[in-house]
Amino acid sequence: MQLPRYIAHRGLSKHAPENTLAAIQAAADAGCEWIELDVQCLGDGTPVIWHDESVDRCSDGKGALVDMTRDQIRPLDVGSWFSSEFRGERMALLDEALSLVSALELGLNLELKLNPGHDPVELANIAVHRARQVLPLDRLLVSSFDMTALESARAQDEELALGLLYEAVPRRWASDAERLRPVSIHADWTQLDQERLIEIQRAGLAMLCYTVNDPERFASWWDHGVNGVFTDDPGLFDPRYQRQAR
Ligand code: G3P
Ligand code: MG
Repeated sequence: MQLPRYIAHRGLSKHAPENTLAAIQAAADAGCEWIELDVQCLGDGTPVIWHDESVDRCSDGKGALVDMTRDQIRPLDVGSWFSSEFRGERMALLDEALSLVSALELGLNLELKLNPGHDPVELANIAVHRARQVLPLDRLLVSSFDMTALESARAQDEELALGLLYEAVPRRWASDAERLRPVSIHADWTQLDQERLIEIQRAGLAMLCYTVNDPERFASWWDHGVNGVFTDDPGLFDPRYQRQAR
């Protein structure tokens, strides 16, 4: 798999409300090749594209996702908190997001997001199954902080590209990698450790860092061999990625 240097984090989230269809479209319009989206399940099992445990920060509603159904999330406005330009944007169902990603021929890093009260096996089973129905193997990378979810994903599909997601990369990364056979390690760049990075490179895995919005402070990590970054705006790194007016 050809992993990208820049992955638009939660879609083009500097310029559109994160994890929405508008953010996916904005990333494609800006020329991005890959995006990252968070997926989790509602209480009724519907997979949706959303980062937080609740809808409070990024919608006009209140409540935890585990307590909500598809009918309850559909009326929410998930765009106005970001800008009036996006008023009326709806929470994206996983299926809607996958269709758009496929139509736009983007690569997708689908992060299995396990907030408290969610079942990692249920999420991995649903999300991987649906993603594999829509996207080819070379345009899908599944990651998670939750190793149980990744074990389930691996059990479902031997060939699926996996990314192990950590804050600081722990000592146990190598045993996780032996078990799960990932293509990449994803970590918080502010907690990056040069020795770990060398170990990861020696093992032949790619190192992707999140969430990098300060190209100057990050610059030396490219020299140390980081392969790619999650950023809210790839245009910060490369002027070829320019936001288009809506
Ligand atoms: O997958 C990289 C990054 O998205 C992980 O952190 O909290 O933004 O989902 P978060
Ligand atoms: Mg994420």
